[in-house]
Amino acid sequence: MKEQIEQLTAQIQELKCRTEKEIEDARVRLLGKKGEITRLFEEFRTVSPEVKREFGQKLNVLKKLASDKIQELKAEVAVSASAAAPSDDVSMPGDPLPLGSRHPVSIARQEIVNIFRKFGYDVAEGPEVEDDYHVFEALNFPPNHPARDMQDTFFVSAGHPNPLLLRTHTSSVQVRTMERMKPPIRVICPGRVFRNEAISARAHCIFHQVEGLYIDEGVNFADLKQAILLFAREMFGADTQIRMRPSYFPFTEPSAEVDVSCNICHGKGCNICKGTGWLEILGCGMVDPNVLEASGIDSKKYSGFAFGMGIERIAMLKWQVNDLRHYFENDMRFLREFSNCVEV
Ligand code: DAH
Repeated sequence: MKEQIEQLTAQIQELKCRTEKEIEDARVRLLGKKGEITRLFEEFRTVSPEVKREFGQKLNVLKKLASDKIQELKAEVAVSASAAAPSDDVSMPGDPLPLGSRHPVSIARQEIVNIFRKFGYDVAEGPEVEDDYHVFEALNFPPNHPARDMQDTFFVSAGHPNPLLLRTHTSSVQVRTMERMKPPIRVICPGRVFRNEAISARAHCIFHQVEGLYIDEGVNFADLKQAILLFAREMFGADTQIRMRPSYFPFTEPSAEVDVSCNICHGKGCNICKGTGWLEILGCGMVDPNVLEASGIDSKKYSGFAFGMGIERIAMLKWQVNDLRHYFENDMRFLREFSNCVEV
């Protein structure tokens, strides 16, 4: 028995296991019901009383050695298993955070502003909730003009001599600028406007305009034409032509509407320009002397021109978008089309 105990002691001290399975097998082989140490305890019952004490102690030491070794091996395998487990790969690319992009209306607005900035225009802004005076009265609208009708304009407060309303055009910012500045004045006024319109492919109740105003001594219609031509060529391409058609606005005299040569068919006629070869882009004219005088500018000394354009309209023509509603629905498929747009 002594020999067996010594052999087993040596074996246990040498014992090496790489897996939990090997440890479990070793435990069963040594300490299991039919294990070698268990068998020695059974044999121990038969040893003579003189050596019982000695072997009893030895067997207990052996059993403790075996169970300690098993625990030790278990701990080692657990450590090496966790070291070998695949850890986070820090070199892997992270979850991509999609970059947003600017809305096409913002891109078009910025392009228009950039072009006129190059021509020396400043940017002016005014309130969206305006009064009748700045939207209509000071711009020479007669008291019964249809634009003042509830059907066309959203009123905030009615029944007042100067009711509050949502501005229907950015021309109101012309008036505020003339009230605050002395000529020479050269500003563009981008902003949001509101009209009581049924929503369709061509109309919306909220949209954006850019107003332009230039007042100085001796400003004439040729200056207006040249400013619009230069703008159209920057915006739609160097070979763009313009044409002016006589029109009417209460705040300008004479007034005109401006068309640009169709940038899709180059004047040949297509379904975007409805076969005409021309696309309407803005209204303009020489500032009516009544408008200058209403804002305290001497119409004998100064003259000026003004123009106004819809940003959505310019954006639709530039990018051939056939339905205005796309600009307001925030469909990501539409917005992503503009994610690579670079402003001029
Ligand atoms: N305010 C006009 C509109 O909303 C656009 C416009 C036309 C502005 C002629 C002007 C202008 O300054 O001269 O339809």
